[in-house]
Amino acid sequence: VNGLLEAGVRRVVYAVGDPDPRVNGRGARLLREAGVQVESGLLEAEAEALNEGFMMRLRRKRPFIRLKSGASLDGKTALANGESRWITGEAARADVQRWRAQSAAVLTSASTVLADNPRLDVRIETPRQPLRVILDRRRVVKKGAKILAPPGRVLIFAAASAAKSRQTAPEKFGDATIERVKRKGSHLDLARVFARLAELQVNEVLVEAGPRLSAALLGAGLVDEWLVYLAPKLLGRDARPIAALPRLKRLKDAPGFELRESTIVGNDVRLRLRPRKKG
Ligand SMILES: NC(=O)c1ccc[n+]([C@@H]2O[C@H](COP(=O)([O-])OP(=O)(O)OC[C@H]3O[C@@H](n4cnc5c(N)ncnc54)[C@H](OP(=O)(O)O)[C@@H]3O)[C@@H](O)[C@H]2O)c1
Repeated sequence: VNGLLEAGVRRVVYAVGDPDPRVNGRGARLLREAGVQVESGLLEAEAEALNEGFMMRLRRKRPFIRLKSGASLDGKTALANGESRWITGEAARADVQRWRAQSAAVLTSASTVLADNPRLDVRIETPRQPLRVILDRRRVVKKGAKILAPPGRVLIFAAASAAKSRQTAPEKFGDATIERVKRKGSHLDLARVFARLAELQVNEVLVEAGPRLSAALLGAGLVDEWLVYLAPKLLGRDARPIAALPRLKRLKDAPGFELRESTIVGNDVRLRLRPRKKG
């Protein structure tokens, strides 16, 4: 603001205000008081889209959550025996690297860590490694799991004892940090997990999980964007679904998505979906 006033700027047009309560609207007010003509809203939607994670964190106190799934043409993500590497091709996996690189955190479940032993790090050039987050309610991930190896930090969320919402003293597990969160029903409270990530300044999270956690997030309205890599192959009826959602009785209750983009990536298709707003 001072810089603009000193430079003698008479008219300021900005795209979107900063929702941070410490600054929200103050700059515009000071400029107006100094006699500068101030307007907002120019390319507002585009500016919001560029800063979606930041806006989400400040307004909703949680990060922007992007779920990634790799599936077959018949909507399956793993064989019945758990084998899922690799349904999609090399180009799709390289594409996932870019999404990881732009995320402040990559989140998965202990169940997927045990099944696939993924690293979930970024193997392309990147200014930072995302924080790798594991939901491990029962602390079943063992030392030696590839996800615990450098580079990058690892945060494990485990269940808190019934009395405490979050333990204050940090616990270590090798180089990883353990934080305790309360349960909701029989699982970790996902809302608390994401609220904590927002506190840690995480704007965007990429979730790479299997059918149960994916279903839980979709069911809880905790998916802001869904990236589905569809491989043109068939895995058969006893393979695992992309999301293990409960049975529906009426088609009109089927969760729907808006198709924002479909792109050919190697021999697969990447769909970018946004949940359809209700009403
Ligand atoms: N194709 C892909 O994109 C892809 C990606 C990742 C994994 N996979 C495959 O998926 C399979 C693993 O699937 P999965 O279903 O066992 O694991 P998952 O969906 O990754 O995670 C399941 C765990 O999530 C937690 N969870 C479930 N509902 C929850 C809720 N409402 N709130 C909070 N936490 C909740 C539970 O942990 P607690 O029981 O401890 O509470 C549950 O054990 C593997 O075969 C893997 O290969 C495929």
